[in-house]
Amino acid sequence: MMHILVLHGPNLNLLGGREPEWYGRHSLDEINQKLLAFGGQAGITIETFQSNAEGALVDAIQGAIGKTDAIVINPAAYTHTSVAIRDALLAVGIPTVEVHLSNIHGRESFRKRSLIADIVIGQIAGFGTQSYLLGIQGAIDYLQTQTIKEDKTV
Ligand code: DQA
Repeated sequence: MMHILVLHGPNLNLLGGREPEWYGRHSLDEINQKLLAFGGQAGITIETFQSNAEGALVDAIQGAIGKTDAIVINPAAYTHTSVAIRDALLAVGIPTVEVHLSNIHGRESFRKRSLIADIVIGQIAGFGTQSYLLGIQGAIDYLQTQTIKEDKTV
């Protein structure tokens, strides 16, 4: 069964009360419940993890080797600063989708730069909780397309 790891970066544990004009009113628990339900409907397993610590996110990415088919990550503020998360994703080579609740391209200029945008399958931003669901669906579609391609080359 396909397995997807969803990673949430710093301050996303405060969702629900944190700047709802940007991030909506769903708590992280509510979002995670939606993701798990979506995974169940899609016939895949989903694991979620949130940390405020860059190193813990790096550890989670490294820990995904051999266990996870794809990563869906909202690195939050680390999107704009973390070479360590970029390097970890490059090191593990697991297909990754970048997601953001808000449209980072329509906000302050420092948010427009993502240090992982060029190494992920794609980026989804601006759809609130739906960004995660679109990201998971995108990862599933990507993995299925890869499988078809591999079958054809055999
Ligand atoms: C965010 C956007 C980031 O700029 C910000 O630091 C976040 C959340 C989003 O989901 O819109 O914490 O990644």
